[in-house]
Amino acid sequence: MSKKDKKQKAGEEKPISVKSGDLALYGGVPVRRDMPEQRVVTGEDEIKQVVRVVRSGRLTSLSHGVVEKFEKKFAAWCGAKYAVAVNSGTAALHVALAALDIGPGDEVIVPPYTFIATASAVIQQNAVPVFADIDPATLNISPQAVAAKITPRTKAVVPVHLFGLPADMAAINEVAGKHGIPVIEDACQAHGAAYHGDRAGALGRMACFSFQESKNMAAGEGGMITTNDKQLARQCRIIRHIGMAAKYEYVTLGYNYRMPALSAAVGLAQLKKLKAFNRHRAALAEFYAKKLADLPVTLYPAPEGVTSANHLFPVTFPRELVPDREFMLLLVRALHAENAPVWWVYPAPLNQVQFIREQTAYARQCPFACPLREEPAAYDAHECPAAEDIAGRTLVLPTAPCYPLSVARDTVAALRKVTAYFSG
Ligand SMILES: Cc1ncc(COP(=O)(O)O)c(C=O)c1O
Repeated sequence: MSKKDKKQKAGEEKPISVKSGDLALYGGVPVRRDMPEQRVVTGEDEIKQVVRVVRSGRLTSLSHGVVEKFEKKFAAWCGAKYAVAVNSGTAALHVALAALDIGPGDEVIVPPYTFIATASAVIQQNAVPVFADIDPATLNISPQAVAAKITPRTKAVVPVHLFGLPADMAAINEVAGKHGIPVIEDACQAHGAAYHGDRAGALGRMACFSFQESKNMAAGEGGMITTNDKQLARQCRIIRHIGMAAKYEYVTLGYNYRMPALSAAVGLAQLKKLKAFNRHRAALAEFYAKKLADLPVTLYPAPEGVTSANHLFPVTFPRELVPDREFMLLLVRALHAENAPVWWVYPAPLNQVQFIREQTAYARQCPFACPLREEPAAYDAHECPAAEDIAGRTLVLPTAPCYPLSVARDTVAALRKVTAYFSG
């Protein structure tokens, strides 16, 4: 695309504070020599814990106590009474929904701007995800939108603490509470986030975490459900263990979602470092906020009394700079050519995902057209305008502990270079 074309695309002239250089995409010198790789920061502690498990010859949660130890430490860390370890965040969501007896004919309200697992876990449980739009000031589900989507079929609300920022839990709990509907936090990106004095994991009826390797603390793969409800915790343990209450005593439909002992060993070591990891993320987030303040981009500072876990740092470009998806793709390519580790993580709201919109998750349109519903579910591609608009022009910047400040500095330089080029 010529400079003239790109100017036409960008629309009006924008104020620029830096000189535009030649983009690496068009043959210029990149800001960084290479793309920094994302990896989990591990050390001797993880090695020791894993070796101990391997040496024991007991590798499952059934035979090794390390999983239970991880559960206890994690529950205490969140300020919840109980924690149930599983083998992914998706499994955690599935188990939590199953433990609440959600199933065919039921609806679960979720945000449209999130990772697919928030919605797919609902479909796995044969219920229907209903999308409530986001608040453009926080990118999290809007309590008003939740209120508008509640029907007699609503059996749970699953707010996501997106990119580490807690959702407006007081308002969501109030709206859901009025109807006796349980709230399940999707805290998969929010280990250590806090909301008016309480940590994520203790802000709803249940909460779900992921320990997949990109998360604030990692176990390779893994997940956790936290709750203060003894009965729900017991039910979660049964469901993750193939539906068995005791050996070969099958009391319900369950799954093998048990966390391997090796994952728990890594998780235990990582939990000790979570505070330090999150301090690093907060420092990079603060750096980005300061260095991008004069650019015409939207940032998402935490509201008063709320502490983000800064899982990622979202940046939304103005509509005048990014008029359409094609241009966003160009922008991402230009940033990647500069070797900036940025991601366009959720390019479209989930109500636009084909298998959801066309209701083809399973054969014969189940669970969307279910005899237990008077009318089939219906998704409008434009029912969540805020999410649709923001998804098309929002990128995330890295905060993970493996990225030193120099990577954040280069990422800012690349952003300034690319936005100046396309604005000029
Ligand atoms: C918001 C959210 N929910 C759920 C999940 C699912 O977690 P997992 O990948 O461990 O299944 C993720 C993971 O990326 C996530 O970001």
